[in-house]
Amino acid sequence: MSAEETLILVKPDGVARGLTGEILRRIEAKGYTITDLRMVRADRELLTAHYAEHEGKPFFEPLVEFMSSGPVVAVRASGHRVIEGFRSLAGATDPTAAAPGTIRGDLGRDWGLNVQQNLVHGSDSTLSAERELGLWFS
Ligand code: TYD
Ligand code: MG
Repeated sequence: MSAEETLILVKPDGVARGLTGEILRRIEAKGYTITDLRMVRADRELLTAHYAEHEGKPFFEPLVEFMSSGPVVAVRASGHRVIEGFRSLAGATDPTAAAPGTIRGDLGRDWGLNVQQNLVHGSDSTLSAERELGLWFS
C-alpha cells in the first residue's frame, strides 16, 4: 500500500472563523492521517511560489493579499489516494457552488469580497503535492 501525501492549508478565513478543528476533524474522520502540522504567517515569497501557476491572472494579487492577511495552518496528510480524496472533501472552488457535504459547501459562502474565501487548499496532483510540501515543510 502506497502512502500518498498531500498538502492541505486551512486558509486565513478558516483559521479566523475558528474552523481549524472542524476541518482537521473531517480529514481524520475520512480516515486520512495527519503526519505534520504547523501554523504559518505566509509571506509574499512563499505564496508566490505556492501559487506560481496563477501568477499574472486577475485574481492573483488579491489572492496573495488574502492569504497573507492572517495565519494559515499547513497540514501534511497521508493515505492511499489522499490527493484526490481531499479535493473531493473540499468541494468546488466557488463555495457558493460547492456541494453540501463538502468543507466549502457546508462551511463556506461568498462574502462579496474580491477573492474567493474558500477555507482550504489541497494539492491537485502528485507533482503539486511534492512541490508544495517542500515549500511549506522545508
Ligand atoms: P484554483 O487552483 O483554481 O482553485 P482550487 O483552490 O480549488 O485548487 O485557484 C486557487 C485559489 O484562487 C482558489 O482557491 C481561490 C482563488 N480564485 C479566485 O479568487 N478566483 C478565481 O476565479 C479562481 C479560479 C480562483
Ligand atoms: Mg489549485
